[in-house]
Amino acid sequence: MIYRASILAIFFLFIVSVTNTQTSTDKPDPEEILVLRGPYLQSGTTRSMIIKWKTSKPVSSRVLYGTHSDNLNKSIEDSAKVVDHEIRISGLKEHTKYYYAVGTENKMLIEDDPSYYFITSAKQDLEEVVHIWAIGDLGTGDREPEKVREAYMKFRGDHHTDVWLMLGDIAYYSGKDEEFQKGIFSDTYKYMMRNTVIWPTPGNHDMRSADSQTESGPYYDVFTVPTKGEAGGEPSGTEAYYSFNYGDIHFISMDSEDSPRQVFGDMAKWLEKDLQMDDHKWKIVFFHHPPYTKGTHNSDMDLDSRGRMKEMRENFLPLLEAYGVDLVLSGHSHIYERSYLLKGHYGYSEDFDPDTMILQYDNEKKKNKSAFFKKEDNYGTVYIVCGVSGSRPAVGTCDHPAMAVCKGNYHGSVSIEIRDNLLLGVFVDESGKTKDSFTITKEFSKRAN
Ligand SMILES: [Fe+2]
Repeated sequence: MIYRASILAIFFLFIVSVTNTQTSTDKPDPEEILVLRGPYLQSGTTRSMIIKWKTSKPVSSRVLYGTHSDNLNKSIEDSAKVVDHEIRISGLKEHTKYYYAVGTENKMLIEDDPSYYFITSAKQDLEEVVHIWAIGDLGTGDREPEKVREAYMKFRGDHHTDVWLMLGDIAYYSGKDEEFQKGIFSDTYKYMMRNTVIWPTPGNHDMRSADSQTESGPYYDVFTVPTKGEAGGEPSGTEAYYSFNYGDIHFISMDSEDSPRQVFGDMAKWLEKDLQMDDHKWKIVFFHHPPYTKGTHNSDMDLDSRGRMKEMRENFLPLLEAYGVDLVLSGHSHIYERSYLLKGHYGYSEDFDPDTMILQYDNEKKKNKSAFFKKEDNYGTVYIVCGVSGSRPAVGTCDHPAMAVCKGNYHGSVSIEIRDNLLLGVFVDESGKTKDSFTITKEFSKRAN
């Protein structure tokens, strides 16, 4: 008995000693400055870029940058000691690749690594393909969004993603700071966000802890978007909604959750001015609440999402269609749906008239499902719902008559490629398979007009 007790005592001492040794070696260095968030890119323009990152303690900010990865010969410093760092670099050349590193005035915090780079936006005369990636309802912070991202990257290959759209619900469940940490600043998007500008739109979950009127709360702290027209478009004066350009594409992000949605509200007034002055060949609009859906939300139910889908449909679609918007992207409903080329459907699904609201029929007089031709600027719009880039189950009745395609049970994301007069849209599922593809061809030259 005494022998057994001695053995147990020795074993216990061994465990304690191992635990102590581990504790002492794993103890964080109190002097060490950790980068907890990013670095990530915001508000890219043809001449400037914003780099943001977060540190474990208040320190000064420094960005080194240059056009060669082994020669970061320019620097910007800010001696203010902060944890949330935001440095704007200006005086850059258009559509140019710059490498960068971040740190403090005394010490760089990331190693020399060529994956830290940004590419400034291209001007309107760009002749190359523009690659756009759109993800919706992504912020679940688990394995599913990672699979969706890996599948898209496999699909995309070596091409750089020029424009990365987040269609809202970026931080489940309540848009808290720690939920943004889990939703987008964990490993899932870590490598992509260091070299690809994120353009967000607010979702209902994000806005539970934020306020669009005062532009306060974690959503507004995390993101910095153009408000003065610095990336193109009409100045919105608010980070709740904004626009920007890339190549010959004009993008508009609207706040369908927490900004006034009336026909004569501030957002509508700004939107009309923005659309009126725009002369880009392509127009893409994104907001969280879909005007048409039969997924986990139903756009026919007035009370669903407290009427936001109905209001977006009735109050904004006539304007978007009149000014020739080509594509509208939304999330919110956990399903993938993609419409025909449509014009004039602002009511319930029972009011949908395929003969007048679907604009094209093919040679055999069937509804044209996937190859659309725009004869003039305001000739129809395609609507996409993609609320399936996180892990929320993708289900629905899939029976909205405005939709040419509906896919339940798939998680995935939307890839869009635009070159000259052609747009190619693809829904890539979480295994990398193409589950939908469509094209829009512009059969007129806007420049010649
Ligand atoms: Fe939502």
